[in-house]
Amino acid sequence: MEPAKSSPDALPTSVPRIDGRLKVTGAALYGADMAAANEAYAFLVTSPIATGHITAIDDRRTRAAPGVVDVLTYREVGDAIHPSKLFSQGGYLGSTIQPLASDKISHAGEIVAVVVAESFEAAREGAQALEISYAETPPSATFDSAGTKTVAAKDASAEHEDPQVGDAEKAFAKSDVTIDARYATPTQHHNPIELFTTLCAWDGPNLTVWESSQNVNGFRHGLAQQLGVPPNNIRIISPYVGGAFGSRGSLTTRTALIAFAAKRLGRPVKLAATRAQGFTIATYRAETRQHVRLGASLDGKLQSLTHEGWEVTSRPDSYIVAGTDATTRLYACPNVASKVSIVHADRSTPGFMRSPPELPYMFGLESAIDELAVALKMDPVELRRINDTQVEPIKGLPYTSRALMPCFDAAAERFGWSKRSPEPGSMSDGDWLIGWGCASTLYPTQMAPATARVFLTADGHAKVQTAAHEIGNGAYTVIGLIAAEGLGLPIENVQVELGDTELPPAPVAGGSNTTASVCNVVAKACNDIRGRLARAAVADRAGPFAGASPDALTLVQAKLHGPNGASEDLEKAVRRVANGAIEAYAENLPQGAKPNGVEMLYKGRQNIVGGAKMKDRIQFAFGAEFVEVRVHKLTREIRVPRIIGAFAAGRIVNPLTARSQLMGGLIWGVSSALFEATEIDRASARYVNTDLADYLVPVNADACEVEVLMLPEQDTQVNELGVKGLGELGNVGTNAAVANAVFHATGVRVRELPIRLENLLIG
Ligand code: MOS
Repeated sequence: MEPAKSSPDALPTSVPRIDGRLKVTGAALYGADMAAANEAYAFLVTSPIATGHITAIDDRRTRAAPGVVDVLTYREVGDAIHPSKLFSQGGYLGSTIQPLASDKISHAGEIVAVVVAESFEAAREGAQALEISYAETPPSATFDSAGTKTVAAKDASAEHEDPQVGDAEKAFAKSDVTIDARYATPTQHHNPIELFTTLCAWDGPNLTVWESSQNVNGFRHGLAQQLGVPPNNIRIISPYVGGAFGSRGSLTTRTALIAFAAKRLGRPVKLAATRAQGFTIATYRAETRQHVRLGASLDGKLQSLTHEGWEVTSRPDSYIVAGTDATTRLYACPNVASKVSIVHADRSTPGFMRSPPELPYMFGLESAIDELAVALKMDPVELRRINDTQVEPIKGLPYTSRALMPCFDAAAERFGWSKRSPEPGSMSDGDWLIGWGCASTLYPTQMAPATARVFLTADGHAKVQTAAHEIGNGAYTVIGLIAAEGLGLPIENVQVELGDTELPPAPVAGGSNTTASVCNVVAKACNDIRGRLARAAVADRAGPFAGASPDALTLVQAKLHGPNGASEDLEKAVRRVANGAIEAYAENLPQGAKPNGVEMLYKGRQNIVGGAKMKDRIQFAFGAEFVEVRVHKLTREIRVPRIIGAFAAGRIVNPLTARSQLMGGLIWGVSSALFEATEIDRASARYVNTDLADYLVPVNADACEVEVLMLPEQDTQVNELGVKGLGELGNVGTNAAVANAVFHATGVRVRELPIRLENLLIG
């Protein structure tokens, strides 16, 4: 067989989203657009206190309110919802704090009641009439609050490792130049535009859930545990997702409650939680504190690197961020130490948010590297070149491919970096100080076991089915492209079905693994079809390919071509194998996965492998990001007029959607650096800016000129198709690039995000 890339020249190389028209015309249905006959509407009531318990509930006014059909509190639910495990501990949940299980309150904004009514408005009215009394105890909100409990990550999780090599302490003491600095990153919330919604409908013993999800198969199995129902009785439907970013990868506590409400009522129940409730009923990015120590010789070579981190989590759950897996391996350094600790506080459980480990930890490392460049009076790009390596320093494993410096060179050239004058405050334009800064970015290349089914009909149309997820990542399109390529069909002839537990299972859309995991298994199914066609053609003694080698046959543009210019209609070929349609099911187990990885997948469990977790190698995608900031000399207003990122991420299946992913990442990176922080009131452990007016994100006037360069990169080791994945690569380095540019503009080093103009009011 020819490899799947036999005819790339004949295929479009950059395809608009095949679901684009549906989305821009409003035909694509998202969570709350789904409707069931006779549905009732739920409204959540959440706790104003963080710690304590409920002392009394008076629901008489609520039950008497017009349209209210049910009220659920812990008295109605209690132990009806069974416990399950946290996603990161082999389970399915984003939090093991089960609301409505008892009178106990574990965090502010915990769900304390569900009011169900004939309309959304009636449910909200009923919720407002509910009287709940509390006995409050003082909460521990975050770092430095009395009563938090700090635990070493390796004591909290058997899987956690604190990478280290050599003697970092001793080498630091002996280094010519040292940096010893502390950094901090805030709580951040995903705030997808689609709110957290759920629609549950029972049909006898069978439950259908319409809920936007990055993990339909995991949701099925988690809910099955929680509700005590066989997994096959549960169907999760999520064809489109209005923003995910990690917030929909694990089950939130709302889903089982709404399923319970629907069962009890004997009617479908729909929930659309409010924007503010989304801050406490789903996960978020944990705040971190970091201590970075670097030691270098005068030639710039790193001699010692120590990265220590602390992260806030909830009381019961050990959610661990741990970006040290990446930061200890980015540069050559003979002596490395790291340690991660988690700090249990009275908070909801944090979780995945785009580039969960790398984003906060690379802010620390890449800021410190810039500080080292300043201390050495060295260009920060050159400092990175001096410490570049093709072998990670912890175990000495080779990178499968690594184009960090080619990315720096391409982006620097495009940016005009050579015109930078290194002295802080030395570049200006009228009243504006100009700062140019840069940082490395990286993201682990990860894959998981996946399955898919492909149908090819004699009229030259194909259908791909896999329970992967379209979360704005362009999944429909890249999967369609790979099937088109694998079968030699135009993409218009390929239909892709995703986001439904009725389809063959695919992994969580997390860790940027979808393109690598799913495209590889789809390519495998297509290869199977091609092989069957070829073998049948060769076996047919009367046909044009009688006796030829099956390997010499290729399917190109819906025609079967053989040696010596022979060709045959696809239709005839398909009919020879089957009665009008060929179906192929494929499973793919990536290198490094557990032998029972596919079996695990069928149980909704994830076996994501790659990155720094491989035995014989290390695999990451890389990039370099350059930012220009302008800081007003008098007001200290900070603007970012332009940002350029260059990236190398293996094979880019669809440059158009890849560019959107990287561009979105860069803009989000600027947002993270300058805008985003969820503020917590320490006394009450409540968030105070739970809306899009006060939780700042960039609007059009803040958005800058964003340029994305994608460097060609061939990686033959990561997987058959050479795909690395890039969904999370874009926003990793941006925080540090902005902070480094702000330093260059002003001479002020801001080590705590977000960077605000008050940080720059000096002198
Ligand atoms: Mo991503 S935060 O791994 O969904």
